Amino acid sequence: MTAQTSQIANRYSRFAMTEAASHAPAYEALALAMAASLSRLSFLAQLPTARQQPNLFLAALRHVTGRVIAPQELDDILSDHGAEIAAVMRSRTTQTNEPARCATLLPALAQIAAQTHGPIALIEVGASAGLCLLPDAYGYDWGRATLPAPAPHAPVFSCEASPETPLPQQRPEIIWRAGLDLNPLDLHNPEDIGWLETLVWPGQEARLARLQAAISVAKATPPRVVAGDLTRDLALLMQEAPRDATLVVFHTAVLTYVQDQAARDRFAQEMLKAQAIWLSNEGLGVFPQFAGAEATRHPDKFLLLKNGQPLARTGPHGQSLDWIEHAG
Ligand SMILES: C[S@@+](CC[C@H](N)C(=O)[O-])C[C@H]1O[C@@H](n2cnc3c(N)ncnc32)[C@H](O)[C@@H]1O
Repeated sequence: MTAQTSQIANRYSRFAMTEAASHAPAYEALALAMAASLSRLSFLAQLPTARQQPNLFLAALRHVTGRVIAPQELDDILSDHGAEIAAVMRSRTTQTNEPARCATLLPALAQIAAQTHGPIALIEVGASAGLCLLPDAYGYDWGRATLPAPAPHAPVFSCEASPETPLPQQRPEIIWRAGLDLNPLDLHNPEDIGWLETLVWPGQEARLARLQAAISVAKATPPRVVAGDLTRDLALLMQEAPRDATLVVFHTAVLTYVQDQAARDRFAQEMLKAQAIWLSNEGLGVFPQFAGAEATRHPDKFLLLKNGQPLARTGPHGQSLDWIEHAG
């Protein structure tokens, strides 16, 4: 085994044990099978490092075969369809759009609207298909408070909220919205929709159904998502926001893809200086400078920051919201 293939084997074993094991046994088995065979690892080694990602491989495998295969089928499938799978891995990225994350954002947005006594203009960087740009289009069930779905077929997202979480009784008024993404996905393109659906892990049928319901809602009024890089193109988009609304710029599960910590930190500095409120909902390691005592607690949770201040711990797929005492 070369240094490169052994590095990929480690990456796939780590993915199997730390990410897939508790959520998708079929993916755990496939990732372990990839890690255990030199010829399979050599298939991955022909791709650029950023494209060797386990989640991307597993989605591409499913996208091409149309199903979740068994580990013993891997060699035949890589031999018959390897070129197609590699082509998907070169052309697509993991753009998982999880609208249920809106359940963790809406209380913060409602609080901002209440504090500023006015409407909100919303920008999402790393918006994928833009499903999180519609927090006012979905229903919510936080356990001790609900906001019913505003339309008959809109999804209702369940999110376990801690007793301290300030839960809204109404949706904030959002008068303008726009997204920015390296590769905006088109809600009217069946290939893009197919890819979004494939990114939901096998066995997570309820999540898939919620995604499909959110896509139906969003298709009626697709949010505008422009192509661009958050490290370069945000200022221009911010200039388009109406002046008579409070501008909120947010991102969820995005800055982790900006590999260079210095680039992340420059983005953070720019956001802190910007004429906007900045909400960041990311893994704990993304902005260690703002994580403080949270850095070592609850490593499986995201940290929701408002202008760099910890506001809440959130379930990565929007499944929980623990307000941090005295915050916000
Ligand atoms: C995992 S998806 C998250 C999508 C959405 N925020 C959500 O929570 O459902 C990450 C998205 O960030 C985008 N992205 C990654 N790096 C970016 C960058 N430098 N500028 C703009 N978008 C970026 C990707 O294209 C992808 O659509």
